[in-house]
Amino acid sequence: MRLTDCHNFHDFRRLAERRLPGPIFNYIDGGADDEVTLRRNTESFEHVDLVPNVLRGVTDVDLSTEIMGQKLDLPVYLSPTALQRLFHHEGERATAAAAAKFGTMFGVSSLGTVSMAELAAKHDTPQVYQFYFHKDRGLNSAMMQKAKESGIQVMMLTVDSITGGNRERDLRTGFSIPFRLTLAGLIQFAIKPMWGINYVTHEKFSLPQLDAHIDMKGDTLTIGRYFTEMLDPSMNWDDVERMVAEWGGPFCLKGVMSVEDAKKAAEIGCQGIVLSNHGGRQLDGSRSGFDQLDEIVQAVGDKIDVMVDGGFQRGTHVLKALALGAKAVGLGRAYLYALAAAGQPGIERMLTQLTAEITRDMRLMGVTRVSDLTPDMLRYR
Ligand code: LAC
Repeated sequence: MRLTDCHNFHDFRRLAERRLPGPIFNYIDGGADDEVTLRRNTESFEHVDLVPNVLRGVTDVDLSTEIMGQKLDLPVYLSPTALQRLFHHEGERATAAAAAKFGTMFGVSSLGTVSMAELAAKHDTPQVYQFYFHKDRGLNSAMMQKAKESGIQVMMLTVDSITGGNRERDLRTGFSIPFRLTLAGLIQFAIKPMWGINYVTHEKFSLPQLDAHIDMKGDTLTIGRYFTEMLDPSMNWDDVERMVAEWGGPFCLKGVMSVEDAKKAAEIGCQGIVLSNHGGRQLDGSRSGFDQLDEIVQAVGDKIDVMVDGGFQRGTHVLKALALGAKAVGLGRAYLYALAAAGQPGIERMLTQLTAEITRDMRLMGVTRVSDLTPDMLRYR
């Protein structure tokens, strides 16, 4: 199987599975507990049908949108995700370059493996800095200051990961950083020698956003330990209100799910929220962002930009969210599998296909602009 065999999300996922050692593939692929929410995220699109209009003259289709003051050529962006150079040696460099080529936004994680400053210097396209709130307030301020100096446009605070999700696949494989694998996990690495050769012949693994502030040598940092030992579960609305003021630019909360929280986010000066359950990786059994979209857009859609992520695999999934009033849709696994499959050309192929799908689907719906999509074009089963 090669990149040219990849025509949709499932193909990229299969190719990624072939290329990656099992523990790494399962870290991306897995969710929390019984993975109910992980499955439900994509299933939720099937409960809503599109009702097209015909004979509308749909020659020129414009996919552009604006979120938090940033103009995007596409209504999808590449959400911040951790550890990308483990998935492919190009890591965040591939993600940023592909986003820039398609004129969309990308995010760099606090747990990113390339520095946000390097990427901001290289690309003009909007960049989001994904932020976790650490117990060490000095560290938080230093990280925000660094982001400001690097010219990052948007601050995105993750609020759904106040503690680590229960990722049982990672417990079984021993996935951690640096690797401290179980025997079964080690065997999975041994049978993927190409990944190993690429890994050891490229730049040494590091977490530049954190390395400057934390000494992680000689210790394994599991994702669970990072969340439980370094992040501050006491974080509350007052802390975030102070952060919003300290940042002084577009600020967005990722992982808001209730109407009450969406209203609060608008009140404390956020310009955006992302409805998200962290790809089903945190609270299993939580509702999909897509299912919450309608009531949240109705409550705060005129005050704040509402975005959504979780389970988006198809152009039609994106259209359904846009019709309910989402300003843009975040992609996670969709581009991570493409990255793992083939680096930058993989992500570019995925974005080419998704752009073609969205364009085709908009034509078939009888609309030529994102804002033409409205809730009356949807019916619930
Ligand atoms: C995860 C965190 C790191 O989902 O975002 O693994």
